[in-house]
Amino acid sequence: MMYGSLCTEFYDADKKFATSEEVNFYKSLFKKSDLLLEPMCGSGRLLIPLMQEGYAIYGLDNSHDMLESCKKRAGQFGLTPILYEEKIETASFPHQYNGIIIPFGSFQLFYPRQLAFQMLEKFKTYLKPNGKLVMDLFVPWDVLWENNAEERSHREVETDNGALIKIENHSVANKYEQFILSKSKYTKLVDGKVVGQENEQMYIAWYYRYEIELMLEKCGFKNIIYRERFLNHSNHMTFVAEPS
Ligand SMILES: C[S@@+](CC[C@H](N)C(=O)[O-])C[C@H]1O[C@@H](n2cnc3c(N)ncnc32)[C@H](O)[C@@H]1O
Repeated sequence: MMYGSLCTEFYDADKKFATSEEVNFYKSLFKKSDLLLEPMCGSGRLLIPLMQEGYAIYGLDNSHDMLESCKKRAGQFGLTPILYEEKIETASFPHQYNGIIIPFGSFQLFYPRQLAFQMLEKFKTYLKPNGKLVMDLFVPWDVLWENNAEERSHREVETDNGALIKIENHSVANKYEQFILSKSKYTKLVDGKVVGQENEQMYIAWYYRYEIELMLEKCGFKNIIYRERFLNHSNHMTFVAEPS
């Protein structure tokens, strides 16, 4: 699965940029002299505001469209981010970092579960001693209600240049295995005419607080801090952990 061009347009119109509250959280954790990495940085929703604050942050993503959008959106502010276009699974980096940040539930895109463990181990090797891994995760509580494992939904957003992007989604959750198989169809309309369509399929895993803490410990992290945060209209669990 790769985030495509309509998905990118939808994401940017829907999410725009991180709020100052979200940015301030990272400002409280890191110094401007720190070197940060955001694997799965997407179109720079958080990376761009952090660059604007003077942070040295590198981004990685496997979606060409998301990274092109990131460059374009950063360019509007006179910024040129350093971005790697690659799957995090195969990427290697020239540095160790003071911070590796994975906001907004992106860690939950690692599937199957074994991959999540491998990625935690990888992040640990790229953190400096006393560096920090920061991750936001969410639990999709609604799918746990009885007979609520399957859901169909649709939404639409208007882009800055007046196009309409509709998304139709069909999600099926397996609450024992803790994953959702999410299938989406994006349709772009200009002046009421369909000008593009795109299908997307992804697995979204979920974890509970103590489960993630045990996973982090098993992968060699210590000093784990847990916070509840409200991001983009939903509750997230934020974990900050250091390599041991
Ligand atoms: C939910 S978006 C989050 C983007 C950004 N971190 C933010 O906070 O807005 C998830 C991003 O992860 C990227 N992604 C998913 N799987 C990936 C992988 N295996 N390697 C690199 N990037 C990946 C997608 O292309 C997408 O841009």
